Amino acid sequence: DPILEGEPLDIVLAEPRGFCAGVERAIEIVERALAKYGAPVYVRHEIVHNRHVVQDLRAKGAIFVGELDEVPPGAVTIFSAHGVARAVEDEAGQRSLHVIDATCPLVTRVHLGGQRYVRQGREVVLIGHAGHPEVVGTIGQIPGRVHLVETAEDVARLEVTDPDQLAFVTQTTLAVDDTREVIAALQARFPTIVGPGIRDICYATQNRQEAVRQLAAETDLVLVVGSPNSSNSNRLRELAQEMGRTAFLIDDADGLDPAWLDGRRSVGITAGASAPEHLVQGVIAALGRLRPAQVRRLTGAVEDMHFRLPAELADPEPVAR
Ligand code: F3S
Repeated sequence: DPILEGEPLDIVLAEPRGFCAGVERAIEIVERALAKYGAPVYVRHEIVHNRHVVQDLRAKGAIFVGELDEVPPGAVTIFSAHGVARAVEDEAGQRSLHVIDATCPLVTRVHLGGQRYVRQGREVVLIGHAGHPEVVGTIGQIPGRVHLVETAEDVARLEVTDPDQLAFVTQTTLAVDDTREVIAALQARFPTIVGPGIRDICYATQNRQEAVRQLAAETDLVLVVGSPNSSNSNRLRELAQEMGRTAFLIDDADGLDPAWLDGRRSVGITAGASAPEHLVQGVIAALGRLRPAQVRRLTGAVEDMHFRLPAELADPEPVAR
């Protein structure tokens, strides 16, 4: 595009982007467990859905396993941020594993909400993506039958025991707008259903979706830094696409295709909740090598969320004098 010759590329950064409090805590748990107990420590499932994070921790001595039968008896075993089913906790107990739970407290809150509904005599509908480890864990934390729905069409097909004894909970990393639609379909079909609304969708997911919307409105192309199996990262890319932008999910700077820049004046960058900031900086540097560029950041929600570490890994309390 001859118009663009000599014109610097406008790189725009979404705010907030990248690590959430649950991911920071989960990674810190693995690092502190390695420091305290020594390598190896075992981690059930990818601690968070990011290839680079997993590779880094593997290099430091973490061993990632699919199931607990791969862990030697008694070994330090960390549950990933996505949470696990009751059956997994039970199995760990039977095998005398030393469990450290890195389940995000906001996922645990969903588990507790679901359990409370069951105690009230209700059947629970979970809004989420089939097969995602958080969904598998949440279904396995709620006693009795849990109905999984992803779309309004799924709601139409639901068969429940008592339509007046229903509750719903949601996965934490869903698209806010789609979820509203599914909740509306549930409420239309089951007027007495109770639930937390979209509040189960965590603050980080909501803030990043808000930010990518702003980003897509101001840029020609949107890049989401994140791994392909990251649910919240995929939602960010979809949101930008729904706003008519070309959007790509890339793991790092190596995922960049220079052709994407043809004819573009601006590129927006955001990152999923499990993607480290250094990868974003790597993408900015790579773009700068392709074309002269200037960087600016948007303003968005300020986050100060922080979750406490498990007691065995926390810093000792300062002694009162
Ligand atoms: Fe937790 Fe939300 Fe992050 S549920 S792990 S704070 S994306």
